[in-house]
Amino acid sequence: MVKLTIDGREFQAEEEKTILEVASENGIHIPTLCYHEEVSPYGACRLCMVEVTRKGRKRLVASCLYPVAEGLVVRTETPEVNNIRRTVIELLLARCPDSEVVQEMAHDLGVDKPIFSLEEDNHKCILCALCTRVCQEVVGVSAITLVNRGVDRQMATPFYDFSEVCIGCGSCSFVCPTRAISFEDVGDTRVLTMPHVTMEFKLKKCSKCGKYWAPERQLEYIAKTAGIAPEAFDICPDCRD
Ligand code: SF4
Ligand code: FES
Repeated sequence: MVKLTIDGREFQAEEEKTILEVASENGIHIPTLCYHEEVSPYGACRLCMVEVTRKGRKRLVASCLYPVAEGLVVRTETPEVNNIRRTVIELLLARCPDSEVVQEMAHDLGVDKPIFSLEEDNHKCILCALCTRVCQEVVGVSAITLVNRGVDRQMATPFYDFSEVCIGCGSCSFVCPTRAISFEDVGDTRVLTMPHVTMEFKLKKCSKCGKYWAPERQLEYIAKTAGIAPEAFDICPDCRD
């Protein structure tokens, strides 16, 4: 365990925890857009910046990546921290002016209008990589990734086409903070819409009630990885005893 101070309050915390984790556990709010406790931190959005002082040295760090340490002094609200957050959210607002979550966060940080606008359509994607991390670390298929560099950086499937390994589970859509990814079940088909591609997946029909209830690819994947007989999915959860 280590002792640290956050906003003037003293805490004891396990060494492997990050500042963001310790702050959240103790009710101290730090804004985030690319953090999710189920996946490894990535440090993409930079909204979680805080000021740390250690051994007399002061600097600004991303709290989702920075581990706690003995004697660390953390300040989550300083003029410098707030300026950085405002700059970051201005850029995100310029990139994704139609994203409600970005608009709300901008408003909370005192930014109501983008200082400039970008011409290309970014489809609400802020490049937080939550979708790609969930796909890789939680689902285990790596159907999507971030491609290119700099201003050309995008979230994409291989060759911007149907991803042969995607199982259509929609986990990326659930975790996406800006709703840049969505899906809809229409009849016997799931339509998964991503910023640069739309993919369709055939849904499994329940042999008892006739309802279409999950993508066939997803059920095949679960059967294979969990060692369950595929016939176990002939009936939907509602028709099971
Ligand atoms: S699609 Fe959503 S989850 Fe994926 S990188 Fe873009 S904003 Fe993040
Ligand atoms: S939450 Fe830390 S950089 Fe996004």
